Amino acid sequence: MVTNIVKIIIVNMGVKMMSLGIFFSLKSINILCFFSELYYNFNMKYSFKNDYSEGCHPNILKALEKVNFDQQEGYGDDEYSKKAKELIQKEIKNEKSDIYFVSGGTQANLIIISSVLRPYESVISADSGHINIHEAGAIEAVGHKINTVKSKNGKLRIDDIKQVLDVHTEAPHIVKPKMVYISNSTELGTIYKKDELEKLSRFCKENKLFLFMDGARLGSALCSSKNDLTLHNISKLVDIFYIGGTKNGALLGEAIVINNDNLKEDFTYNLKQKGALMSKGRVLGLQFMVLFQDKLFYKLATHANKMAEKITLSFKKQNIPFLTNSFTNQIFPILPNDMIKKIEKLYGFYVWQK
Ligand SMILES: Cc1ncc(COP(=O)(O)O)c(C=O)c1O
Repeated sequence: MVTNIVKIIIVNMGVKMMSLGIFFSLKSINILCFFSELYYNFNMKYSFKNDYSEGCHPNILKALEKVNFDQQEGYGDDEYSKKAKELIQKEIKNEKSDIYFVSGGTQANLIIISSVLRPYESVISADSGHINIHEAGAIEAVGHKINTVKSKNGKLRIDDIKQVLDVHTEAPHIVKPKMVYISNSTELGTIYKKDELEKLSRFCKENKLFLFMDGARLGSALCSSKNDLTLHNISKLVDIFYIGGTKNGALLGEAIVINNDNLKEDFTYNLKQKGALMSKGRVLGLQFMVLFQDKLFYKLATHANKMAEKITLSFKKQNIPFLTNSFTNQIFPILPNDMIKKIEKLYGFYVWQK
């Protein structure tokens, strides 16, 4: 049987997915959809392609409208950004961490990596890491080599890092690996457990490597049924990370958190030089304020994960195998091609791997 791996992402806005979750059922190899609002909009495919097919959570829109004519300082010095920073500092239980809001994940990655590394230093990543395969060479464009290692499930292990260090001994004729890049959840929907992150953190400290966690999908990871990490743990274990809003209910925005004091100096200069210090920073700050009030950030991610789990179970009942064992909102079922042809008439998704 000819099969392909498809990628399904459950959007985190909540409302529509609720009806999809209730009425979604797999019969034989067809996906059947009853009574839901989707039924009445059937000329429009329901998209599982990514987290961007809908705008933002209604509370965010309402908040934006409510304060629209209130005057505020520019460049992130507004009241909402200040409040959002306080809420995040409270959540990570570290009032000393510096926090900056930027517009997207690729931007966060290139700002962080170019701020932390010297020109001749490199970053170690899984070959499937977002910075390696999905950012059009953004990291290379700011002058840094990515040392990639093969990874089956998207995660980096200590042995992988050792492997890179072992072949980078010819100083100064070779780049100097100085940072370890991981993402949680990974590009393949897998997550890091607390003991894994602790080991990575210890190893990085022993080897004078900075540990950077790309958290574009952190909400989904933290709310996974298999997760045992908190934002507090993460802020203790990694030097720098970010919390993704774009993929978790915000219109746009990522919150960069700097835990290591040595990485704080002049961060704003790099933000400004790379065009990331937004004059209307209030738009980002306000969204994070809403996400971290009343735990909306966690509620949205939990909901998306639950809906993904329902779809996973439906596939499993049909004995459909998966590329990875994902407990987040990205799932990778391996489907027969004729099934893909049928399903794609009703739903949008990517064929991830052929
Ligand atoms: C782990 C991870 N990091 C970064 C990004 C990049 O985000 P953006 O597309 O907002 O630049 C993505 C987007 O899919 C991602 O999955």
